[in-house]
Amino acid sequence: MFVKLKINKTVYTLDLMGHETLLEVLRDNLGLTGTKHGCDEAECGACTVLVNGKSVLSCVSLACDLEGEEITTIEGLAQGDKLHPLQEAFLEKGAVQCGFCIPGMVLSSKALLDKNPSPSKEEIKIGLDGNICRCAGYQKIFEAVESAASELKKNNVK
Ligand code: FES
Repeated sequence: MFVKLKINKTVYTLDLMGHETLLEVLRDNLGLTGTKHGCDEAECGACTVLVNGKSVLSCVSLACDLEGEEITTIEGLAQGDKLHPLQEAFLEKGAVQCGFCIPGMVLSSKALLDKNPSPSKEEIKIGLDGNICRCAGYQKIFEAVESAASELKKNNVK
């Protein structure tokens, strides 16, 4: 069936099977490999994307159910050459180790900060509890989210 998916502000018309997941379509059909393929069982958060601003696990989301929705992947977060303040903060705070979990972490953080621009440490932990870091680099990740939150507030950026 033909499905129109709006991903990072571009509309793609794709010929898909009903069982294809958004993760498969992003990576295999569109080459958007920033979205990572981890557990495939809704456990690790590596495949997180945003759908209408909410974090969603693309490994358990059927692509054909998402026609008309606004999908954002990590490739859609920067504005041209300018990284999003969350991406800057992850780099500045040294929050990236192997990097596998980071696209999902950044997008879950974005969903969190859009909903709650001044989260407490505890709220950051809860907001990211669906995202597993295999390197266990959580402390720096939480610091990066705190730092991005103050930067975004200062500049009133979304
Ligand atoms: Fe989707 Fe792990 S790959 S949650």
